[in-house]
Amino acid sequence: MIMAESLPGKRLTTAATMLRFAWAADPKRSLLALVLFTLQALASTTFAWWLKVLLDAVPAADLTNLFLATGGLALSLAGNTVLSHGSNQVLLALRERTHALVERRMVEIVGHTPTLDIHETPAYLTHLEVLERETWRFGETVPSLVNLFATGIRIVTTTALLVTVSPALLLLAVLGLPTLLLSSKISRLYHLGNDRTAEIYRRTAVLYDLATKSECAKETRLLRLGPVLVRRFHVEYRKLIGVSRRVAVHAEALGLAGRMIFLLGYFCSLLLVVHWFATGRASIGDVALTAVLAGQILSLLASSAELLQFAWRNLATAGRYVELEGISRQARSRSTAAAVTPARLRDGIRLDQVSYRYPHSTRPALRGIDLRLPAGSTVAVVGDNGAGKTTLVKLLTGLYLPTDGKISIDGVDLATLDPESWRRRTSAGFQDHARFELPLREAIGIGDLDAIEDEAAVRTALQRAGSADLPAALPAGLQTQLGPSWTDGVDLSGGQWQKIAISRAMMRTAPLLLVLDEPTAALDADTEHRLFRQWATASERIKDTSGAITILVSHRFSTVRMADLIIVLDHGELIETGDHDELMARGGLYADLFELQARSYR
Ligand SMILES: Nc1ncnc2c1ncn2[C@@H]1O[C@H](COP(=O)(O)OP(=O)(O)OP(=O)(O)O)[C@@H](O)[C@H]1O
Ligand SMILES: [Mg+2]
Repeated sequence: MIMAESLPGKRLTTAATMLRFAWAADPKRSLLALVLFTLQALASTTFAWWLKVLLDAVPAADLTNLFLATGGLALSLAGNTVLSHGSNQVLLALRERTHALVERRMVEIVGHTPTLDIHETPAYLTHLEVLERETWRFGETVPSLVNLFATGIRIVTTTALLVTVSPALLLLAVLGLPTLLLSSKISRLYHLGNDRTAEIYRRTAVLYDLATKSECAKETRLLRLGPVLVRRFHVEYRKLIGVSRRVAVHAEALGLAGRMIFLLGYFCSLLLVVHWFATGRASIGDVALTAVLAGQILSLLASSAELLQFAWRNLATAGRYVELEGISRQARSRSTAAAVTPARLRDGIRLDQVSYRYPHSTRPALRGIDLRLPAGSTVAVVGDNGAGKTTLVKLLTGLYLPTDGKISIDGVDLATLDPESWRRRTSAGFQDHARFELPLREAIGIGDLDAIEDEAAVRTALQRAGSADLPAALPAGLQTQLGPSWTDGVDLSGGQWQKIAISRAMMRTAPLLLVLDEPTAALDADTEHRLFRQWATASERIKDTSGAITILVSHRFSTVRMADLIIVLDHGELIETGDHDELMARGGLYADLFELQARSYR
């Protein structure tokens, strides 16, 4: 997990990443910002210089210098004002573009990770949570670096001017160092604070969703959960505020200490120059110059300490991005295998001693599964809740890689298959399917992106899902916008959403693997039965051309009995396989469960 300790070594790569972003987002404006800020810094330093010339010209009644200095003062002020407007405009555009680019990359990183286990990795969740709140920091990279650079120039030029009064005043700049050094420590405090609050933020987000999302509205109302949720929300927020306060107080104390050291130096230098003036060793211009410049250095140091802190914090956020990219790359590299998915299945799918344990789980969800799913077969998976049915299906579709053992597709290890090519040949409908709030045609069409525009293909998919009449029941047919989040969106019944999920799974016409993990639970038993018969017939028809395997997870034995092969899972282990007759003759768990269900229908 990324922690502040691991950060220093990574700062350079991280800084490079951030610069790359700004550059990729808008190279012209990045350069322009640098130029404008440098000019602005020079303009404000010359202001102090012209002030000294003016004050020294007064007692000498040097008219040339008086007019020259007045012109110089006006010019540097005007220059500063114009440049500051210009640079602000440039920075604004730069911020927006960089921010947009980072958000896009984040979606790419998360979306392109082929397996699901990263969603159960705490470091990943922490980074994602913090980044969601802090992607704006990427937009600040160039502004904060350019600002730092410009402040650096101002500190150097201001100190150089001070040295013209006396080299002894150089000490003032040295006394500013503690302020700068402390800023890195302060940003580290904030970084650790973020690590500590990320989980609390996640929890408050869950509570917030429970209280506000329409999916939960029925139950939260009926159970009168409102006050309970509010109370818990308060408790979490109190923790959050507690941690943030402690970090802020600690950080402020450190910052104040640094500035006090500098202030002491500031007063000593002023006293020294006043003393020199009294003894005739300095002019009135020198006194004015020192007062103005030392004050300027004070505020420059304060702002550069803040800028540095800001830059460190931006860097820490970028560090999380780099880590996230790394975790995702690692997940991808485990499966960026190049073997190509066969055009058709001849032998089928084999599982050799396959086990899977979810990250941070003590018990394996599947253990030592040995199984052969013959090409062209229809397979049913049964077992109690939590037996491992969905896990098995997720392994077969490549959403997780086995923690032990091997899954082979016609003899080729699934882990070595190019995940893209395997995905193109698998179709799936899940019990916890997504509700894509798109127009109906697209919500189904995304089941096969190549055919998303093909209305006829969408209608065929609807037909194969036994839902040909669904568009007619909706106000704008296939064009109906789904989902309550849209003003003209239509919300559907649970069964209707499920029909869409099944239709989506029916979009691919020649999958090698079709998985249906209880997507029919909201449909009546008859409909499920009819659909499965239809799919079984269809797969029988294409058996010789594609060798497709159809897997159905169901708790309804009237459907299950039709399958060529039935797999019985119990507590993550495969306890029985065979067809209906074999399993009934065996008199094991399957026979018991079948009898139990049959009796309740009699
Ligand atoms: N994301 C996860 N992280 C940790 N454990 C999980 C996760 N998903 C499932 N499990 C655990 O793995 C085991 C198998 O779960 P799985 O979802 O495969 O069961 P199932 O047979 O599909 O059950 P159901 O009939 O309820 O759908 C269960 O003990 C469950 O608690
Ligand atoms: Mg399940």
